[in-house]
Amino acid sequence: MTIKEELAQRASAVENFLEQCLHDRHIPNRLLAAMEYSLLAGGKRLRPVLTLSFAGMLGGDEAKVMPFAASLECIHTYSLIHDDLPAMDDDDLRRGRPSNHKQFDEATAILAGDGLLTEAFVLMAESSLKGGLPADRVLRAVSVLAAAAGAGGMVGGQAVDMEFTGRTDVPLDELLAMNAMKTGALFTEACECGAVLAGAPEADVDNAREFGRSVGVAFQIMDDVLDVVGDTKTLGKPAGSDEAMGKTTYPSLVGLEQSKELADACIQEALDRISTYNGREKEFLVGLSRYIVDRVC
Ligand code: IPE
Ligand code: IPE
Ligand code: MG
Ligand code: MG
Ligand code: MG
Repeated sequence: MTIKEELAQRASAVENFLEQCLHDRHIPNRLLAAMEYSLLAGGKRLRPVLTLSFAGMLGGDEAKVMPFAASLECIHTYSLIHDDLPAMDDDDLRRGRPSNHKQFDEATAILAGDGLLTEAFVLMAESSLKGGLPADRVLRAVSVLAAAAGAGGMVGGQAVDMEFTGRTDVPLDELLAMNAMKTGALFTEACECGAVLAGAPEADVDNAREFGRSVGVAFQIMDDVLDVVGDTKTLGKPAGSDEAMGKTTYPSLVGLEQSKELADACIQEALDRISTYNGREKEFLVGLSRYIVDRVC
């Protein structure tokens, strides 16, 4: 199996879980339709897959970790819905379909995002209350994930992204810091939470976290590169959006070649962090790391 096929197989297990997780929640019809429209629109499911893979590699029970892993996808999908809004990146296409606010309306898109973010906390709590994960592990994972998703992490990074829009004088270290927040934080905690939920020793939790940090930065660098070199159909979102919006990106600051070199260096750092592990999950994580810099969408 190629890494792409293996990722697709794991993504579809996440998808199966996501498909049924909103059904007993008494959500008004149109809001539920909007939430599911974006949540079930495909997507690579990288963040939950990373959580599950780290949990598996470090001796955890992947089936029990699934609700928590799915919560990461809810948070990520909410961030995409809001990211596309006219007040932010103003993009009309996402995951190969009209963006949420185009398919529904802006108010519904905002509320669908709010609903998904809040649903994430239900899933996290249920991973202990219904799923049987030890409460102390879940509590720790909730704490780090909530901090990563919030104003000191993804939301804060998005705020800085908006401040940087239209500027041409952003230093590279500030761009790196912004991306570590807006994208890196969720990757970091996807990996760390997998280790925490598996009950892994602290040294393994550290390795998982630092792997995620490096992969997250590489991921956003390549997202910026693909915005320049990719095409809209393959990406499932508008190519050239960053330049059109006046975004400060890696290619805009250091060019395509140096961007790719920077991403490769981050992936090497990530690989160094997991070099001492063995087995199927380790091999998958190595393949996934390479895929992140070689991908076309
Ligand atoms: C896109 O994330 C947004 C960024 C953080 C760069 P993905 O490329 O993981 O989006 P999906 O989930 O596959 O649609
Ligand atoms: C968004 O970065 C990161 C998020 C936290 C959603 P981008 O704005 O570059 O993501 P895309 O390219 O629209 O997916
Ligand atoms: Mg954006
Ligand atoms: Mg965007
Ligand atoms: Mg982008």
